[in-house]
Amino acid sequence: MKVVTSIDQVRQQVKAWRQSGASIGLVPTMGFLHEGHQSLMAAAKEQNQKVIVTIFVNPIQFAPNEDLASYPRDLERDKIACQQMGVDLIFCPTASEMYEAHFNSYVDVNGLTEALCGKKRPGHFKGVCTVVTKLFNITQPDRAYFGQKDAQQLAVIKRMVCDLNVDIEIIGCPIVREADGLAKSSRNSYLSATEREAATCLYRAIQCAGEMIAQGERSVDVIAGAMQAIINAEPLAKIDYIEFVDMASFNAIDSLKQDSLCALAVYIGKTRLIDNFIYQPS
Ligand code: PAF
Repeated sequence: MKVVTSIDQVRQQVKAWRQSGASIGLVPTMGFLHEGHQSLMAAAKEQNQKVIVTIFVNPIQFAPNEDLASYPRDLERDKIACQQMGVDLIFCPTASEMYEAHFNSYVDVNGLTEALCGKKRPGHFKGVCTVVTKLFNITQPDRAYFGQKDAQQLAVIKRMVCDLNVDIEIIGCPIVREADGLAKSSRNSYLSATEREAATCLYRAIQCAGEMIAQGERSVDVIAGAMQAIINAEPLAKIDYIEFVDMASFNAIDSLKQDSLCALAVYIGKTRLIDNFIYQPS
């Protein structure tokens, strides 16, 4: 496995792979890798001859009041995880390698980014789309892998690739959860023991919604109300949003229909966690 920090090194390797006819799978990450990332790598490994993992905590997707400085990092541990998954190349650039002094071009997807996390974190998806576009241009993969936990990110990237005719297949992979249901996330490492316990309220709310839906409930107000009650009963939790939207438009809905997304963002102490489920009856 090669570990490189410069764009030129990636380009040289990709060129050689392309000349030999190898297909390339890309797993973009911000590092501090966990089983969720490993499931993306496993999918990439299965479907491509070569796998590139990028590890880059992208400064332009964090607002000034967010956790850029404290975002967890452990490159040595990440290298071992990638090696174990059979990754061929890690690209872990510095911020100055990715954003030179006069950098001033951005990719901004409208519409889908105006709801949910896009509304709560202005500029976030512009930063994500810009860095993902750069990573696509640098690594030129056949396929790129993203987790369904970041459902809005996945939808926005699919929209971007479609709108801009980017010839890369975007593969969404299922949410990977801890034994008690908490969705795997690098940010889980911020949680103290009591907060970690409290964080199970997200999945408990999702399970409750699942049970209500199984019993025939379709009203968003009723289901969201029950979810709120579970989360509000947890003293360390503060709801940022619980919303039901249509997966295609991300417009709010008031009753469940095929391909509805329920997305939630909840603060546990100072840590903001997200989770979601998709309603797909058939
Ligand atoms: O999902 C993430 O880890 C990041 O948003 C991504 C896609 C690597 C872009 O920085």
